[in-house]
Order: sequence, then structure tokens, then C-alpha cells
Amino acid sequence: MVIPENSSIVIFGASGDLTYRKLIPALYHLFANRQLPSSFAVLGVSRTEYSDKTYREKLRKSLTELEKTDPETLDMFCEHIHYQSLNTSDVNEYEKLTQRLDELHQHYNFQQQNTLFYLATPPSLYGIIPGCLATHNLNDETNGWKRLIIEKPFGYDLESAKSLDIEIHRHFKEHQIYRIDHYLGKETVQNLLVFRFANGMFEPLWNRNFIDYIEITGAEFLGVEERGGYYDNSGAVRDMFQNHLLQVLAMVTMEPPVAINADSIRNEVSKVLNCLEPLTDDDLKNNLVLGQYTESTVRGQFLKSYRDEHGVSEDSRTETYIALKMFINNWRWNGIPFYVRSGKRLPTRVTEVVIHFKRTPHPVFGKNAPENKLIIRIQPDEGILMSFGLKEPGAGFHAKSVSMNFHYASLEETQMLTAYERLLLDALNGDATLFARTDAVEACWKFVQPILDYKQAPQSLFGYACGTWGPQEADSLLKQDERDWRFPCKNLTNTDYCEL
Ligand code: BG6
Repeated sequence: MVIPENSSIVIFGASGDLTYRKLIPALYHLFANRQLPSSFAVLGVSRTEYSDKTYREKLRKSLTELEKTDPETLDMFCEHIHYQSLNTSDVNEYEKLTQRLDELHQHYNFQQQNTLFYLATPPSLYGIIPGCLATHNLNDETNGWKRLIIEKPFGYDLESAKSLDIEIHRHFKEHQIYRIDHYLGKETVQNLLVFRFANGMFEPLWNRNFIDYIEITGAEFLGVEERGGYYDNSGAVRDMFQNHLLQVLAMVTMEPPVAINADSIRNEVSKVLNCLEPLTDDDLKNNLVLGQYTESTVRGQFLKSYRDEHGVSEDSRTETYIALKMFINNWRWNGIPFYVRSGKRLPTRVTEVVIHFKRTPHPVFGKNAPENKLIIRIQPDEGILMSFGLKEPGAGFHAKSVSMNFHYASLEETQMLTAYERLLLDALNGDATLFARTDAVEACWKFVQPILDYKQAPQSLFGYACGTWGPQEADSLLKQDERDWRFPCKNLTNTDYCEL
């Protein structure tokens, strides 16, 4: 594990939900596990007036409510936290930031002014903050590196993503820009690469000759919670599909990288995303299902409909569910369907990839002999399950489906970093491998643009009751090809935990 150089981390959007729920807990864990540099400062920046003391108290309270913390470690961690109130859209106010950073650098006795700027703000500020930083030379790397982490969504559609990119590149170079997609920080998503490219036994089968079709499911039990205002302008396509699911798809389908480094991996990711078969009007009509959740009682809990959620318009046509059958036009995958679905208020939280292998050429044990499946479970119960046919004991030759599985939890001594811990650490170490490169982000927007256009006036938006696996039409998407979605859970009677 490489410990980063001494540095300051400036968080714009310091009083926002992401900072409290993800960034500060991640930094706390890294600190508690001695993975942060011996000298570091965290400077929270937002408009609200707080003193360092009040801000520390607020973070301390939310951290202890979120999880178990060690009081002594928490005290030590909080000493590194500082706060600066600033109107982030007013370039003149950045003088205060420059001064504050100078003070901190002196206080911590930094030789180099290494600074990571984290934009955890509303997306409308992503184009503004880099310009303001540059005006005050805070992009200048003469005396220490300057890096920018930008949260998703990176743009709202293809055009806005391109303009945002141009705007940011006016002030920061590509090597300074880290576009975060927290799915790439998940251990099991990275494991897709190791699983594929470290094992001679799977890679030869990983193509159109042996694979029949692939399913990718990103299901959530949660609804939109308190984020209705944001979500209603975003929907499942922008919120989950354009970024997280397409990144997972890229990990499953990319060619082997020449080496394990940022450029080689990101070249392959970009290549495969540029091979996604463009969606035609027919595809939008026949291969796309958009849905929205309606009220229902699930495991004894009443769940309101999407349109009744706080911040959502009462006649909203925003999709909370998407299922799409799509193809990749390249040598490896030509003609193989990928069925990708994601939704909120489904029966449980589960993300998995299911690889369905082709059947044997001659069905000597009958047409219903079990198929070979490989299930790569990204969350929860991270692991891998392989299912295949064996002889059922007894007379005759009946094949029965059995499985072999591996659970990450069985690697007891291994400590898994959360996605934000891993990505913060990588950005501090200057490793951009797990951050989306501009060409990949653009390829994703290019692919989803027809869906975004179609969404303006969707011919159909199907309702589905909370706690179901989405609209029935999504089942028909597979049924018309004589297939079914894999049912990912053994048992979901009293709990929403979904075992592999
Ligand atoms: C976020 C989306 O990027 O990812 C959320 O904005 C979604 O709507 C979340 O709930 C899912 O992340 P995870 O790690 O819980 O699967």
C-alpha cells in the first residue's frame, strides 16, 4: 500500500450530503488505518458560515451516528479538519481560499503545496470552480501537484458533457482531472479484470463463440430518498445507466490491456465503449423498457409511489427503471445480446453480471439439460458462482444443475476498502486508472443520447409496484428471445439481504 505524499484536500460542497455520508467517513477510515500521509489537511469549503470548531462538531456528530468510531482516533482525525466559508461562484472570493491554503501549508510545514480539489457540489458549479481556481493560480503545479476530482454527473447529455470538458480543459490538463465513478472503486468491479485476465481457463471462452448472452443487473431497494429534486431531472438513465452500468459492461467486455496502468486500461475501456451499437428507432421501440415505481407494501412496509416522493412533480414522466437489450459491434462480441437493467424500489439491492454460456452442440442429455452460468456478484455478498450440470444419482442419465461458489467474505484476513476510500487514495497517489477518461465519458453519452431524446416524449413509461422486479414488459424483452432474467435471490421473505 503506497502512502500518499503530504497534501491538502479541499472539499467544495462541504456541508452537502456526499461529504457527510461518503467523503468524511472514507477519510476517517483511511486515517484510522494509517493510510493517509503523516501530515495532511482537509479543508471544507461552502457558503455557510462555520468556524473550524463548529464544522468539526457537525462532522463528528454525523460520523458517530453513521458508524462505530474510536473516540481517540476521531479526536486526532478532527484536528486535521478545517473550514472556509466562500461563495464558490464568485471568483474574487477565492483570494480567501488562497490565503487559507497558505496558512495551512505553513501550519503543516508542507514542502510542496500538493492539493486535491474535490468538487462535491451541484453540477452547475463544475464549469465554474476550475476557472476560479485557475484565476488564482491554484491549478499551477510548479510547487506541488494540483488535482481535481469531479463527481458525476459529468454533463447532462452529450453536448453539455463536451462543453464541460472543454471548459475544464481550459484550466486543468487531462492528467490533473479525475472523473469519479464510484463503481470503479468497488473491489468486485476491479476483480472483473483480475478474474478475466489472470485465469487462462475463462478467457478463451470469453467471446461470441462460447457465450450465448450476458445480463447485467443493478437493482436497488431504496427509492429516491431525499434526492427527488435532483433525480426528477435525471432519471435512471443518467443516474445509473450512463455511468455505473456502462462502466461495469466495459470491464466485462474490454480487450486485455497491454499492461496494468492507467493508459493501457483506459484505452481498452474507451475502445469497447466506442463499439456499442448505436440505438436505432426500432431498438428504442422494441429493446428499451422504461418504468416508474408505484406505491405498494413490501415486507410489511408501505412504500409511496415515485410521484409522491418529496421534490418530484406529481405528473412526472421520469423513469426510475430501465431495461435495455444492446449489442457490441466488434470481433469478440458481434451478435451477442447484453440485457442490462437497473431500477429503484426493486425487491432488494443487488448488482451482478450473469454470463450465460452456449449449450453443448448436441443435446445428448435432452434439451432441458442445465446451462452453464457464471454469476459475478458485485454487491452485496460479493462473490462468484459457477453453475453447471452433473449426473443426478440413480438410474439413467439425467443432468442436474449444481454450483460452486466463492464468497469474498471468506477471505477473512483481507480488508476491503470502500469505493470512496480506494478512489481518494488513488487520486492522492496520482493513479487515474479507476477514473473515467474523457473519451470514455463521451462514448457513454453518445450511446445514451438516443434514449435521452426518446425520454423527452416516451411513447411508453410502464408502472411497476415497489418491491417487484420492474415492469412486466422488461420480462417480455427476454421472453421474446426465449430467455428469462436470472432471479438473483434465494430467499427474500423477511429481509432484503440477497445471498449469492
Ligand atoms: C449513485 C446514484 O451514483 O449510485 C444513486 O446517484 C444510487 O441514485 C447509487 O443509489 C448506487 O450506489 P451503490 O454503491 O449503493 O450501488
